[in-house]
Amino acid sequence: MEGQLTNRELRIQKKIKDSETHVFKAVFPGQTNHHNTMFGGAVMYIMDEIAFMTATRFCRKPIVTVSSDKIDFNHPIPAGTLVELIGTVVRVGRTSLDVRVDVFVESMYREGREKAMTGTFTLVAINESKRPVPVFDEVEE
Ligand SMILES: CC(C)(COP(=O)(O)OP(=O)(O)OC[C@H]1O[C@@H](n2cnc3c(N)ncnc32)[C@H](O)[C@@H]1OP(=O)(O)O)[C@@H](O)C(=O)NCCC(=O)NCCS
Repeated sequence: MEGQLTNRELRIQKKIKDSETHVFKAVFPGQTNHHNTMFGGAVMYIMDEIAFMTATRFCRKPIVTVSSDKIDFNHPIPAGTLVELIGTVVRVGRTSLDVRVDVFVESMYREGREKAMTGTFTLVAINESKRPVPVFDEVEE
């Protein structure tokens, strides 16, 4: 019926909701640069890790990163803060999917937080031969 989601769409929606991944990290001196803010490469490393976790939790299959979109650094992440990374599946293709990773920064000693960075990663599900396989099984297990 028009306006109603198909069973497939409902299953995908549920997987997207269930695979949303939240990770907190404390920003300690080993990850910072000479400005005493988090080194960009260190943030990108954990963003890719959260994208990987999110995609894996969506597919429950082996996953590799094939591409990353533009990553915006909107706000510095000072040493001694907390960051929350949130991974969300935003596109489901045949063998690939896109995960947006938002990074929020908050003080350890004050309420409130700001979005510091955002970026989108494309990941592909692969089999034992390292070839792409569907990210979503059409037939329910
Ligand atoms: C991922 C990999 C197996 C894909 O192989 P491939 O021969 O390009 O496969 P295909 O052309 O069939 O593409 C597979 C999917 O990836 C997508 N894709 C491939 N290259 C892409 C790129 N550069 N950007 C975005 N999507 C891409 C395709 O659109 C396709 O998606 P779809 O099935 O949802 O339509 C291969 O590129 C690879 O092994 N890359 C190295 C991965 C890696 O080592 N990552 C770092 C460590 S995790």
